[in-house]
Amino acid sequence: MAGSFWIQSRALRRFGVALALLAASASLAGEPPRERLLLDADWKFSLSNNWGTGEKLDKAGDSVGPARADFNDTAWRTVKLPHDWAVELPFDAKADRSHGYKPLGPGYPENSVGWYRRTFALSAADKGKRLWLEFDGVARDCLVFLNGYRLLRHESGFSSFRCDITDAANYNGKNTLVVRVDASKFEGWFYEGAGIYRHTWLVKTAPLAVAPDGTFVNSQFKNVEPDGAAEIHVQTRLNNFQEKSAWMTFKCRALDAAGKEVACAQGAAEFAAWSDEEISQVMQVASPKLWSPESPTLYTLETTIESEGKVHDLTKTEFGIRTFAFDATNGFLLNGSPYVIKGTCNHQDHAGVGVAMPDALQRFRVAKLKEMGANAIRTSHNPPTPELLEACDRLGMLVMDENRLLGSDAGNLEQLEKFVRRDRNHASVFIWSLANEEIQQRSPAATRMAATMQMLVHRLDPTRQCTAAMNSWSSGAADGISIPIDVQGFNYLNNGDMDAFHRRNPTKPIIGTEEASAFTARGVYENTRAYNSAYDDNKPGYGATAEEWWKFFAARPWASGSFVWTGFDYRGEPSPFGWPNIGSHFGILDTCGFPKDPFYYYQSWWSDRMVLHLMPHWNWAGKEGQEIDVRCFSNCDEVELFLNGRSLGRQSMPRNSHLRWKVKYNPGTLTAKGYKADRSVAEDKIETTGQPAAIKLLPDRVAINADGEDLGIVTVAVTDAQGRIVPMASNVVQFVLSGPGELIGVGNGDPICHEADVSICNPVIRTVTPKDWRMQVVANVDDRRRLAAQGWNETWPVTDVQSESGPLRAGQSAVFRTRLTVATNDLGADCVLLHCGMIDDEGWIYVNGRLAGEAHDWEAAQSFNIKSFLHPGDNVIAVMVKNHDSDGGLN
Ligand code: GAL
Repeated sequence: MAGSFWIQSRALRRFGVALALLAASASLAGEPPRERLLLDADWKFSLSNNWGTGEKLDKAGDSVGPARADFNDTAWRTVKLPHDWAVELPFDAKADRSHGYKPLGPGYPENSVGWYRRTFALSAADKGKRLWLEFDGVARDCLVFLNGYRLLRHESGFSSFRCDITDAANYNGKNTLVVRVDASKFEGWFYEGAGIYRHTWLVKTAPLAVAPDGTFVNSQFKNVEPDGAAEIHVQTRLNNFQEKSAWMTFKCRALDAAGKEVACAQGAAEFAAWSDEEISQVMQVASPKLWSPESPTLYTLETTIESEGKVHDLTKTEFGIRTFAFDATNGFLLNGSPYVIKGTCNHQDHAGVGVAMPDALQRFRVAKLKEMGANAIRTSHNPPTPELLEACDRLGMLVMDENRLLGSDAGNLEQLEKFVRRDRNHASVFIWSLANEEIQQRSPAATRMAATMQMLVHRLDPTRQCTAAMNSWSSGAADGISIPIDVQGFNYLNNGDMDAFHRRNPTKPIIGTEEASAFTARGVYENTRAYNSAYDDNKPGYGATAEEWWKFFAARPWASGSFVWTGFDYRGEPSPFGWPNIGSHFGILDTCGFPKDPFYYYQSWWSDRMVLHLMPHWNWAGKEGQEIDVRCFSNCDEVELFLNGRSLGRQSMPRNSHLRWKVKYNPGTLTAKGYKADRSVAEDKIETTGQPAAIKLLPDRVAINADGEDLGIVTVAVTDAQGRIVPMASNVVQFVLSGPGELIGVGNGDPICHEADVSICNPVIRTVTPKDWRMQVVANVDDRRRLAAQGWNETWPVTDVQSESGPLRAGQSAVFRTRLTVATNDLGADCVLLHCGMIDDEGWIYVNGRLAGEAHDWEAAQSFNIKSFLHPGDNVIAVMVKNHDSDGGLN
């Protein structure tokens, strides 16, 4: 409906802007200049902690080493974002257990710092625009340089950040962006990856524009009535980055899923020079279609900024119309009705790619969880990538959006504010979680910190409430975070007495934030020293099996439901084991997204599908006549089991439970028949298979968008001659891809498998130390092409490159040469690295007369990929060195 609009007088007073009501304007000429460009492709990457003296902080724009714009990175590897270099590292029994035994972090400086470099062009037409870079996530502690200017340091690996580059940019062509990433320290107690593992964007706007994260659109819950109109509140922060004030018209249109306008509002005001001000508008949407996981209807808010007859900005913001509330008796209410949270906690980590998950994989994972009947995700224990929230908005999955740390210091509050501003438009986000299992959670300081954080969140977002995931709470008078928090969050019913808390705090709403932590391994049906069975029997002291925790919550509507630890397995925390286990056993699905048996327990009691699932497999050669534990997950009323056609009895299914038979093993076919109201409604069958005979490839789609971003997932099955999947097969499968695609990773979900996820350059296949080095002192190395063309000369004196300081005196220059015999086989390697311990002070590396790299940091060890410069047979490597002061050279 075409709407009235108003601008709050509060805004007028606060910001001192003049306001006017305008009639709808005629369409205006000119394309709005906002652009958001993905910077994922063509990064050069080097894993090297080789900054020598490190950062130079004395003058702006005068960075050193790889941070310099003119640094020669031609020998570096080319990578595409998202990128996680931790997943490329081998496993190491001495490395940190919680982080999945990957050799990085404390104790591994050589693997813990990575450099990323890329260029992008700007044109004269970009001059006058505001430009910034948006990083969705970099793990972790990074420095951002543009054209040699150090622009920003951002520490957390989990929060997004922006970097304004308007002033440091070159508007006449090339810009060099460098990101130094330091993963030497850990933030979490789980695998965190390393690198620019989420998207990076370049955003351009006019100086008159909507501010970054400057739109907040919400339907406030008191204003939505079933079948009534929804009141849509829009707050817009507008920037005037000009030196003069500007009269701006701001127009909002709400569009439905078909693109039809359903509401609009319009206003205008004068904005002072160099200002950042917020305006508010309200519109009505008649008969809105409400968002829910079952019906994820989205609307789009289109915001247009006009001034002096020109469109200056146009933004689009997706939003949902729905209400969230918590009730101490009825639990969580969605759109006014009790709605039980059937959730999973998840880390961002997947087989083959680590934390560097393409967007299509986010969608795949959300879809898998929905298939199980889950309706919520908790982004444990950090802000997620925005693309996960988009997937949840669009596919229908509620989100408990979690902040990283408790704290009300300025830094933490700033992070919290940016996080809430970034995510508050998402239809799926239904509650904010301020922290998880903080050690100080029950202290008076925690009471104050949580209260301060919660006040800030309420100011930024009056539509949602806050919780905190607590694994310790009082059965008496509430203490710590429990005092101020809107909604009490409980991690594990066995960590305390939830009933007592509810009795003592009858007006405090409650939600389960974490449950289960049950241990299961896919396809394993006995506990061993390395695996726990998939039967839903094993758990830690504080945890519960799927059946235990779900029965508890299903009986307590006030508890709102909870989140399973975890939906998917992840690297690290290989509980209850250590090495050789490198990944967790907590997932309902493994790291590849293959369901373990308890998936069907949840599907039985969470989804509205008809479920009948038998376990284990029926390949028990050698156990003939012995009793096998046969179980069934189902939501049928009754299930009858047959072995080779003979009935083994019909049993009634207890609600939220499972069925069990002891069956003497005989090869053949185990069949379950499910009944509802005495009618046969479902059947499941397990057969004894033959030996592995074939490989079946099952793609999840037949076409992939050729946009460099899309992804296909291929399930690889080992089958017997009759095409049946062989349950215990463990054949090594090799992959060869032809055509224009790229194989970005592989996995099998086995938590003790140490095979590589990705196929990349492995520099340690063979190490050679060239011994015969010759040195020729020259007046200077300015004419390097001529010197490089000279080739090999036996008469040049032999020199020792293993010395501490080097053979050159202050001010001397020299050419060092050696010969390298290369076999055709060597050139089949992904890369051939020339590693130089020290080039003092500056050096240029030539291979067979061609420049392969350069070095300008005398203290830094450097590696150069010289593969493309080599040929089979004898090759000449020349390093031209210019020594400035004291002794130096190649050493
Ligand atoms: C919880 C914690 C999770 C994970 C889990 C393992 O206490 O919040 O991050 O460590 O235990 O059971």
